[in-house]
Amino acid sequence: MSSSVITNIGELVTNDPAAPDLLGIHRDAAVVVEGGQVAWVGPALEAPAADTYLDAGGRAVIPGFVDSHAHLVFAGDRAPEFAARMAGTPYAAGGIRTTVAATRAATDEELTGRVAKLVAEMRRQGTTTVEIKSGYGLTVRDEARSLAIARQFTDDTTYLGAHVVPEGSDPAEYLALVTGPMLEACAPYARWVDVFCERGAFDEDQARAVLAAGAAVGLKGRLHANQLGPGPGVRLAAELGLVAVDHCTYLTDDDVAALADSGTIATLLPGVEFSTRQPYPDARRLLDAGVRVAIASDCNPGSSYTSSMPLCVALAVREMRMTPEEATYAATAGGAAALGRDDVGRLTVGSRADLVLLDAPSHVHLAYRPGVPLVAGAWVAGTPLGA
Ligand code: NIG
Ligand code: FE
Repeated sequence: MSSSVITNIGELVTNDPAAPDLLGIHRDAAVVVEGGQVAWVGPALEAPAADTYLDAGGRAVIPGFVDSHAHLVFAGDRAPEFAARMAGTPYAAGGIRTTVAATRAATDEELTGRVAKLVAEMRRQGTTTVEIKSGYGLTVRDEARSLAIARQFTDDTTYLGAHVVPEGSDPAEYLALVTGPMLEACAPYARWVDVFCERGAFDEDQARAVLAAGAAVGLKGRLHANQLGPGPGVRLAAELGLVAVDHCTYLTDDDVAALADSGTIATLLPGVEFSTRQPYPDARRLLDAGVRVAIASDCNPGSSYTSSMPLCVALAVREMRMTPEEATYAATAGGAAALGRDDVGRLTVGSRADLVLLDAPSHVHLAYRPGVPLVAGAWVAGTPLGA
């Protein structure tokens, strides 16, 4: 088996859970990759021989970003809606229906090509693991094909038939579809089940019904909750012990306490607040209360049409009162935890060799140099981007 070593790494972020510091930083380090996994981590001067060498030139290497929340299967865009919003029209999730119409009208080839383009865009910005949701089909056929397409790009696929009630449908009948025939058609392609639990979408009882139906066929639950206003979703996620609940913008003290007690991860999506001009979630309040936090892009054509995890890290630091260290961790190890995974989001022996070489001496530059393309190279399971 051939091995390769990346040496002369000025700052290596490992996220090693056994390290005394959050990021498990090694200085003047090397990493050996073999069989797609990290085989050795340590001081550059002690690195074992390998078949190929790469000199990082004193720059930083971090684990690839784990984007645990993205809606990539869609057609069309909503640039006019964005422009209107920037001129003062508030965000309303009703725009989802515009994307549903475009998605239903697209061919499988079009949708697949669009997902491929977005995934490639993500890779260039250092994302090496991505979760992909359905939710713009909202018919049995269109949800199932959305997930079949998503499955070509990731194992972390999420059934979001409960995104909104489609135009012209009766809510009770649609819920029966989502928990019945649609679930049956989608479950073979999905790992997760998700519900948009929000006023104007699905209420607590409906969310419980969808999560229970998903669990009965082996899908693990996650939720969109407390995005547009206070609501029951975050407490429901904590009560059910879900691995993650996403958005968490409007939280009461009870919500925060419930998250801290349950260990459910709060996935914060600052691209949404950036793109909708809503108040950012208060990450500091969550972290200070002992809540585990992840950061993800929520890439979608309505509320957050960015695929950039570095942008989200910068926003988390600047707007959500996270330190660069906390934000880097939340966008890598935090995202991995939000997907229930320990094989990614860290660079320790045995983990998948998903590495990002930054054109910068430290992770701090992700937030310090916002908008600058700092990803000089990325490897997924030891294979370099573009190979
Ligand atoms: O996560 N909140 C619900 N779903 C998406 C937005 C979808 C859209 O506007 O198209 C979100 O923000
Ligand atoms: Fe979302």
